[in-house]
Amino acid sequence: MNRELTEIKDGRLFFDGCDLTQLAEGFGTPLYVYSQNVIKARAAELREAFLDGHPKNRVAYAAKAFCCTAMLKLAEKEGLCVDVVSGGELFTAIKAGFPAERIEFNGNNKTEDELKMAVGYGIGRIIVDSLQELDLLEKICRAACRKARVLLRITPGVKADSHDYIVTGKKDSKFGIPLDDDVILPYVKKALDSEWIDFLGLHYHVGSQLFDNSAHLAALDITLDLALKIFDSFGYAVEEINLGGGFGIQYTTEERKPYRYFLEPLMARVSDFCAAHGEFSPALVIEPGRSLVGEAGVQLYTVGSTKDIRGVRNYAAVDGGMWDNIRPALYGAKYDALLANRADEPATKTVTVCGKCCESGDILIRDIKLPAPKAGDVLAVFSTGAYGYSMASNYNRNTVPGVVFIKDGRAEWAVKPQTYEYITALDVIPDSLSEE
Ligand code: LLP
Repeated sequence: MNRELTEIKDGRLFFDGCDLTQLAEGFGTPLYVYSQNVIKARAAELREAFLDGHPKNRVAYAAKAFCCTAMLKLAEKEGLCVDVVSGGELFTAIKAGFPAERIEFNGNNKTEDELKMAVGYGIGRIIVDSLQELDLLEKICRAACRKARVLLRITPGVKADSHDYIVTGKKDSKFGIPLDDDVILPYVKKALDSEWIDFLGLHYHVGSQLFDNSAHLAALDITLDLALKIFDSFGYAVEEINLGGGFGIQYTTEERKPYRYFLEPLMARVSDFCAAHGEFSPALVIEPGRSLVGEAGVQLYTVGSTKDIRGVRNYAAVDGGMWDNIRPALYGAKYDALLANRADEPATKTVTVCGKCCESGDILIRDIKLPAPKAGDVLAVFSTGAYGYSMASNYNRNTVPGVVFIKDGRAEWAVKPQTYEYITALDVIPDSLSEE
């Protein structure tokens, strides 16, 4: 498991200088905890690998991995751009003080309202995902008398090695424009000819939680071929290529590859291309989500009931579950954990950590070795910073836990926990129900 910035003192687990047992007591559980220093270390690594010495390049943090105003403020302060995929994420970015020109809007089937919002704020890039969207965007821009800076998202038709639900680059995908010449080229022309669209280039994203750079490299080659085709057909050299995200992290035994492993060969490939084709000098953009925040997050739970089914399995139930982390149920995702209050005790018992949702599939960790858990213990689950909070729900009308940001021993709320009043605040009893 990722042990970055963790230490054990007097049997208690510390993370970024904070005693996690004390955090559980003070802020309550379940709780999402994020180390600002881990996020900042990832941002620094990205600057070094991709931005320093490459002034045109940009890193757009994929907000879908973890989105709240505090996170986007941190991303902004670290000099990143932000990639949003909904009106809600866009609104959060604006609320966090992100300059509009550093916001990039991705996603298939953006609604008319979302596109109007994006054009209204004058955001930096709109990554158009479909042919209809280009028409709709042009209409909105014309009505608003505002130009939009656009990339076209293509489906490169490569299959990355990851869970099927998070592989997006293969041809049979709901994302992106297929690469058949008679499909893509007329749209490039349309974008180039439009007085309301400033066509800048191409975008692809091959998948998520990747440890091998071959899918990225294959997709880049396909994109560069298309760039040449566009140049030959219309005399326009694309000015920007967005390579998406997808860089893998360590949940249990995986080995996170440094950003350089992915980025150096991609940048080298583009340099070679530019050397061979002097007209080209595109800016490169990446959209890391998981790799910026995943290992920065720890989730804290309190153990409640335990149940040993002799000869079958030992369960330890915690006060959270699939509503605060759907990933194990949805993807079979695996996590590692420790008891934060007994962190130096030998792990002598194999237990399955389950949540408290009314659902047998509400298992957070299957068969993990821990010191025999008992009621009141604090379970710390590692590498939970990506797609946990952001995919949380109110299933069983459970409240979404709060988020605490920690740094050098200091802990503060970044998102307050929901309350029962909050989750019923929008409920309405229709008049027709009260009339009888
Ligand atoms: N850019 C685009 C266009 C994307 O679709 C995604 C992720 C990213 C960037 C960021 O990818 P990352 O660096 O985080 O791998 N809920 C799933 C992951 C879904 C990813 C969707 N797109 C999970 O929990 O594993």
